[in-house]
Amino acid sequence: MSAVIMDGKALGLKIREGVKEKASALKEKGITPCLAVILVGEDPASLSYVKSKEKALHEAGMESRDIRLPEKTSEDQLLSIIADLNNDEKVHGILVQSPVPKHISEEKVNQAVSPKKDVDCFHPESVGNMVLGRQGFFPCTPHGVLMLLREYDIPVAGAHVVVIGRSNIVGKPMANLLIRREYNATVTLCHTGTKDLKAFTLQADIVIAAAGSPGMIKPDMIKDGAVVIDVGINRVSDTSAPKGYRLCGDADPAVMRKCSFFTPVPGGVGPMTIAMLLNNVIEASNKFEKKI
Ligand code: GUN
Repeated sequence: MSAVIMDGKALGLKIREGVKEKASALKEKGITPCLAVILVGEDPASLSYVKSKEKALHEAGMESRDIRLPEKTSEDQLLSIIADLNNDEKVHGILVQSPVPKHISEEKVNQAVSPKKDVDCFHPESVGNMVLGRQGFFPCTPHGVLMLLREYDIPVAGAHVVVIGRSNIVGKPMANLLIRREYNATVTLCHTGTKDLKAFTLQADIVIAAAGSPGMIKPDMIKDGAVVIDVGINRVSDTSAPKGYRLCGDADPAVMRKCSFFTPVPGGVGPMTIAMLLNNVIEASNKFEKKI
């Protein structure tokens, strides 16, 4: 079997075109969608992520409020900046790039962002709404995965999906979205405490790898014809690469000989995250317009 490569870059661009139209409709009503993007510290990977997010916002005709804070910023200073942004009517969404420096509590930061502006879906109220099947923001990366599955007509309802990884950003929300009634999947959530990972992945119609472990998913772990969605973005050193590293997913690309569909790294799930973030900024701006 040779796998269909799922093109997240193309779908991401298509979604961003739709976002641009929605942004333009809002602008005609006098609202320019604006996302505050906060980066604390100088981590190069985080800096490159926030720059991509800001560029994508501008390309879609939206605004970004770029806030760069030094590593030594105190927790109180950051919380006070977030409080000001919560009250700022020109800002519709707030994103604090994760991870924040160790002396700042990520939990307090997540709770400080108003749920109305929580485009990452990190606030406990947003997470609660998502788990309870209520309306609200969907977290960007898991939502991007669902959009990719839909684009390629891959049935999710009734499918057995094995999610690998229990992070708050991907694994946990991914599993919770999949069991909402509108997706109706049967989900197994595996993690570092799982004893025989292969015994579970071999039963999966869809494997979603979000473990942060380069190349850990091997062909002998995949059922013939299964779908492999690779959410891992790992930097592995490569002296022959211009930057001294290359990006590598959690799946060994050799799994392609076993599966029916496969997301590449880069160019699979990654571009979908930004597209769904922009979509959430539109949603936040719409709520602002309707005062809900
Ligand atoms: N760090 C890694 N992924 C994300 C994300 O989706 N949002 C934020 N705020 N930080 C991240």
